Amino acid sequence: MANYLVTGGAGFIGSNLVNDLIKEHKVVVIDNCSMGKVENLDHSSNLKFIKGDVTDYTLMERILKNKNFDYIFHLAAIASVADSVERPVETHQVNFDSVFQLLERVRKYQPFLKRFVFSSSAAVYGDESTLPKQEESVIRPLTTYAIDKFSAEKFVLMYNNLYGVPTCVARFFNVYGPRQNPSSSYSGVISKCMDCFEKMKDNSNVKFTLFGDGKQSRDFVFVKDVIYALQIISEHPNSLGEVYNVGVGKATTLLELFSIIEGILGKNLPVSYEKARFGDIKESFADIAKLSALGYKPKYTMRKGMEEYILYFNQNSKKI
Ligand code: UD1
Repeated sequence: MANYLVTGGAGFIGSNLVNDLIKEHKVVVIDNCSMGKVENLDHSSNLKFIKGDVTDYTLMERILKNKNFDYIFHLAAIASVADSVERPVETHQVNFDSVFQLLERVRKYQPFLKRFVFSSSAAVYGDESTLPKQEESVIRPLTTYAIDKFSAEKFVLMYNNLYGVPTCVARFFNVYGPRQNPSSSYSGVISKCMDCFEKMKDNSNVKFTLFGDGKQSRDFVFVKDVIYALQIISEHPNSLGEVYNVGVGKATTLLELFSIIEGILGKNLPVSYEKARFGDIKESFADIAKLSALGYKPKYTMRKGMEEYILYFNQNSKKI
């Protein structure tokens, strides 16, 4: 039984990770519930939930000073890129400063830590067009969010190189699955699509807004594959000081995605077409060779992931 600290552990990816970890391990979660919810977490005597902010350094110091952790997953972030563009200073405090401050406290108080895993994003690649994206591809971050993620990555790795803090980085592609929050206009496209199906139950006029022609593609990765990747990355000796793309290694267009969902549900998605979003990239997918070399092999095809996601809706009285 190991001791874990998961920041942002009540959010979408965090809660999926924590609910898996608490089956066998002790987990401390810190989350300010800005996007996440305590209800996302299963009940367990292995779980300790702290409602708090990663920018509350007194609190963070207390947590790190008083307990030895084996693994730390830093997932807390303001995940909305649009938000980072509107509130660059505040989002920088969460997405960059908190990481730096956390690393420093880990250096001071966590001599037995086995691994600190930082969650980054494919957003760091920006609009550079070479595909698939390799970890060493050109980095062209275009927003405060992406620059914060990339700078934080560099600090995370520097703490390994200079101070021997055992760190590594995961760059997530387009993650989808249960508990993804669809509430922002910039929430992930699959969560928006599922939200639309759910709203259609009460209002038959609801339509899904499709920006562009639907031929844009993404590397959609089911959250359980992400959890599996995080487990490998955190435990493999070769991942120390390294960066990994976390995706499936395959591009799926939005039109292909809709056809998969419609096939499972036996219903059509009513679509209202809008102009492509400014700065939207046409195609994106990951080269996952580096992660595969650690033994990772995605378990979920797009169809299998969507079937499980839809099953989750149906089992949680949100029947669609
Ligand atoms: C993702 C990030 C985004 C980041 C970008 C950089 C998420 C949720 N978004 O955006 O913050 O800037 O990577 O790499 O992870 N779409 C619709 N209708 C909708 C929502 C989206 O048509 O209601 C379209 C978008 O215009 C886009 C595609 O679906 O073409 C995917 O959108 P999204 O899920 O936001 O992902 P990214 O664009 O990859």
